[in-house]
Amino acid sequence: MTRDPLIPDGFTPIPSLDRSDTVSVAVVDELDESSLEVIGVLVSSDGELPAGIDLDREALARSGFESKPGTTLVLPYGSGPLLVLVGVGPLAELGSNGLRDAGAAFARASAKFARIGLRVPSTGSAEAAGAAQALTEGALLARYRFDTLKREAKDVALGRVELRIDGADASQAAAGVELGLATARAANLARDLANCPPGHLTATVMAEVAVGLGERFGFDVEVFDKRQLIELGCGGLLGVNQGSAEEPRMVKLHYTPDGEPTGHLGLVGKGIMYDSGGISLKPSDPMHLLMKMDMGGAASVLATFTALRALGATATVSGWLMCTDNMPSGSAYKLGDVLTARGGTTVEVKNTDAEGRLAMMDGIVLANEDGVDAIVDIATLTGSALMSLGQITAALLGNDETVLGEVERAASVTDEQVWRLPLERRYRKQLDSDVADLSNLGGPYAGATTAALFLDHFVGDTPWAHLDIAGTMQSDSDESWRSKGATGFGTRILIEVARGFRAGG
Ligand code: BES
Ligand code: MN
Ligand code: ZN
Repeated sequence: MTRDPLIPDGFTPIPSLDRSDTVSVAVVDELDESSLEVIGVLVSSDGELPAGIDLDREALARSGFESKPGTTLVLPYGSGPLLVLVGVGPLAELGSNGLRDAGAAFARASAKFARIGLRVPSTGSAEAAGAAQALTEGALLARYRFDTLKREAKDVALGRVELRIDGADASQAAAGVELGLATARAANLARDLANCPPGHLTATVMAEVAVGLGERFGFDVEVFDKRQLIELGCGGLLGVNQGSAEEPRMVKLHYTPDGEPTGHLGLVGKGIMYDSGGISLKPSDPMHLLMKMDMGGAASVLATFTALRALGATATVSGWLMCTDNMPSGSAYKLGDVLTARGGTTVEVKNTDAEGRLAMMDGIVLANEDGVDAIVDIATLTGSALMSLGQITAALLGNDETVLGEVERAASVTDEQVWRLPLERRYRKQLDSDVADLSNLGGPYAGATTAALFLDHFVGDTPWAHLDIAGTMQSDSDESWRSKGATGFGTRILIEVARGFRAGG
């Protein structure tokens, strides 16, 4: 890779990959107390206490532990491993999402230790594979840290996780662990990319990272540089890039399944490596600092591809990462400029900070040219999505019940919450322009909807779902499967959608 001289030698934008290579997660009949540093036990708020806890509920309550979901109690023992009780609430309400949270709470309570084991007396309504997958995801996602740029890492990396799941079929549980390793590794990789400083992860470096991942995880990667983008007529991506000293990149990803494909899914990701707003410069508020994450959509799409082969995805999946930063300069695109998208649609730029939709439009046109059966796009697109739904819930819009329903199903499985907003076509006229086919700016209200309506113009009749992750790309604190910083939101949704994708639903 070509490196900026200011970037330290050996720096990699995806440190979590090295870590996931060294963590082993195993399903066991008995936890190995002689080698583990911490032993956790899931405790529901009803029923018998698990055997081996020499305390009653009253004593636990006196210590402030009531087995509520997400809570833990650390009990020091004279010698041998530390004991951590992990609350899961009423057993009747426990499912795989609760187990993921419990895995996360346990891993956080054990943060100072590398070798941990968890006893799971009951998985509630979850079957063995789903339970093991969720527990694995919870532990690995909770212990994620982006610390490669610290001279001394403060946190202990996970080395070994043992799971003793009572009553579970061992081979199904082991298969669930493998799925969890693949999905957590992918989500952590998306986090790495989004946490990476914008000077370290330029569009060019992003493309190089994609090439390396393609070789390693078995998918094809084609990189389009500025000259090739000009040939393709990608006027949106090129327009946004105009003010930048860095070249843009479009990265095309392609996964071919082993057997006869069950369909062809297209994924398009917004890859604004840094969003300054351009000439419509953002005010200098704390939000500015988060704009290195404006490529979170592209990061999720790229990360998704790293899991497809491991999960045996049966459909063909193509991806388009639309990568550039958005900078003000003497050469920057201006308000009033008209950009021509691939395919010829002209767009009047009324605000250079509404750049995401411009970069995305070319990718959507290309996905349609490839004849995909459905498009799912993911983008940190609007402040409006953050304002209306906050940091836990992403906005979901689209034109097709089947694809929308599939994204909702996936989101409920992965516990990455989505909420539907209407694609209200009566707002479409807000995107009319006096001089071009479209304006890139709607009115002052319903910003997430008007942004989606803009994309809808390029989607046409293709079944489509759009995830606006502007709110969910980042977390202010460690909580459940989220770690402070970039969340990798949407990666596990996309994996779940892609894994079972079939043309026509
Ligand atoms: N990247 C931003 C959206 C964003 C805001 C992401 C906050 C994460 C947190 C996007 O490019 C943007 O600037 N959108 C504008 C659009 C407006 C000018 C129509 C917005 O939402 O304010
Ligand atoms: Mn912007
Ligand atoms: Zn943006």
